[in-house]
Amino acid sequence: MVCVSNGAAAALGRLLVLACMARWSAGVGVNWGTQMSHPLPAGTVVQLLKDNGFDKVKLFDAEDDILGALGGSGVQVMVGIPNDMLAGLAAGAKAAEDWVAKNVSKHVNHGVDIRYVAVGNEPFLQTFNGTYLNTTFPAMQSVQAALVKAGLGGQVKVTVPLNADVYQSPTGKPSDGDFRADIHGLMLAIVQFLAATGAPFVANVYPFISLHEDPNFPLDYAFFQGSTAPVVDGGVTYQNTFDANHDTLVAALRRNGYPNVSIVVGEVGWPTDGVTNANPQYARQFNQGFLSHIASGQGTPLRPGPVDAYLFSLIDEDQKSIEPGNFERHWGIFYYDGKPKYPLSLRGDNGSTLTPARGVSYLDRRWCVLKPSANLADQKVGDGVSYACGLADCTSLGYKTSCGGLDAKGNVSYAFNSYYQTNDQDDRACDFRGLATTTTVDPSTGTCRFIIDIAPSSGAAAVAPRRVAGDVAAVLAAFLLLVKLKGPNRKWAIRFRDSPLHKS
Ligand SMILES: *[C@@H]1O[C@H](CO)[C@@H](O)[C@H](O)[C@H]1NC(C)=O
Ligand SMILES: *[C@@H]1O[C@H](CO)[C@@H](O)[C@H](O)[C@H]1NC(C)=O
Ligand SMILES: *[C@@H]1O[C@H](CO)[C@@H](O)[C@H](O)[C@H]1NC(C)=O
Ligand SMILES: *[C@@H]1O[C@H](CO)[C@@H](O)[C@H](O)[C@H]1NC(C)=O
Ligand SMILES: *[C@@H]1O[C@H](CO)[C@@H](O)[C@H](O)[C@H]1NC(C)=O
Ligand SMILES: *[C@@H]1O[C@H](CO)[C@@H](O)[C@H](O)[C@H]1NC(C)=O
Repeated sequence: MVCVSNGAAAALGRLLVLACMARWSAGVGVNWGTQMSHPLPAGTVVQLLKDNGFDKVKLFDAEDDILGALGGSGVQVMVGIPNDMLAGLAAGAKAAEDWVAKNVSKHVNHGVDIRYVAVGNEPFLQTFNGTYLNTTFPAMQSVQAALVKAGLGGQVKVTVPLNADVYQSPTGKPSDGDFRADIHGLMLAIVQFLAATGAPFVANVYPFISLHEDPNFPLDYAFFQGSTAPVVDGGVTYQNTFDANHDTLVAALRRNGYPNVSIVVGEVGWPTDGVTNANPQYARQFNQGFLSHIASGQGTPLRPGPVDAYLFSLIDEDQKSIEPGNFERHWGIFYYDGKPKYPLSLRGDNGSTLTPARGVSYLDRRWCVLKPSANLADQKVGDGVSYACGLADCTSLGYKTSCGGLDAKGNVSYAFNSYYQTNDQDDRACDFRGLATTTTVDPSTGTCRFIIDIAPSSGAAAVAPRRVAGDVAAVLAAFLLLVKLKGPNRKWAIRFRDSPLHKS
């Protein structure tokens, strides 16, 4: 459907306008990441997308089972290319042609509605130390040429999702926006490419990170209900940081002679656990505020009209790197098992339209806990917790988290259970040198959920490696990884694809 505002449209009257607005508001997309120990079957997730009315999905890779499940679904797809493939694709035409044949053409031929290829993910983050500066743009050009050669040049656009720090404003006013000085020339080459091919500029926008990193950041400016600290920019008053951030990019594009390049918000969202300010109340407030904002169709001060955006994210990922913070594993609007976390209306009204995943099968109703007789002063208890938390997920423990109210024994039990579930309730994973025992009584209290993991799906390609106690090499590798990841750099939404914690 084409939304026009000329004489013909006027003749159709309000109906068309309403239909167009409905289309904008229904047009929200979502990111589907897969760094999880127990992924739901791809078909279950595709059904979840359809049940919830998502008509667009953004992927970080081109996994065969996922693209296979999206065939015939009617869901528009942005496929991703991990950063570690950029150098190979930049090197010559052959690699890109192979990639397009295997990861685009094949799936398009099987009814997958691929609209975009995202070449790399936030490759210009300063924390990457310039690793991808020389290869990202050549890789985009190679993939573009390969798509044209495959006859898909018109239907599949090449772009690159960029972190919002590729543009900035020296004064803080959006209208003074420009691209970062150290990559200015490169950004212009990329924007020129996007303009020439009709592809969008994809930017990831994170008000949560602004708040997380700056205790003086005005809380209400992160949301959409008006701010006591608005930013006044000439005749425009910015009441929320999303609009200001978005319009800083609009201004950067205008300043450099590309006022018409379209913008897609590649990631936007709010996490629910792990640190202060990450909780379901704020996540609901932010996401609902954002969805209502874009459903209104008013756009931003410098770009009135529809906003094209992908929420981050669909489902929690328990194996994401937590180097940026413990919140990293809690961005989902759904828990690991496809249950909604809080009421949310994707249409932008104040109801709830979220539908849980259907037909999820769980492991047995059994948990692993610290034996009541265990002595907390025993050195083996601390060792067990370190071991469990190094390999499983303990990011719901700690100050201002969902399990922050547990006592010391509760903490230990939480860690043991997390490890036990991650290992598919293998008996050997509930031993901890005799300190642990299984129970059929749910230890969950209040907001603290002791999970039961999802049963491994038969035939799933994305089954995570299973580890059991005593696998010394794995523990050592994980420990070294944790040490390696510790550092001063901020790296949200970075995906360490090949770390030993994630995939073997
Ligand atoms: C297709 O994509 C997958 C996932 O990123 C990758 O492992 C594979 O190498 C790609 N195929 C080709 C021929 O490049
Ligand atoms: C970037 O450089 C810093 C300082 O030299 C180093 O500590 C860090 O590990 C590097 N990061 C990456 C991703 O290479
Ligand atoms: C990128 O290219 C420049 C200029 O040729 C070179 O100095 C730099 O080392 C290259 N960077 C990387 C990460 O390869
Ligand atoms: C942008 O679009 C407008 C309206 O279609 C057009 O008049 C203008 O020439 C375009 N500008 C550029 C730089 O392409
Ligand atoms: C939703 O509720 C909030 C807070 O009560 C209100 O400000 C907002 O206008 C409502 N939005 C819609 C679309 O009803
Ligand atoms: C529970 O564990 C968390 C995270 O390690 C810690 O901050 C907290 O102090 C512990 N609580 C008790 C009562 O030991």
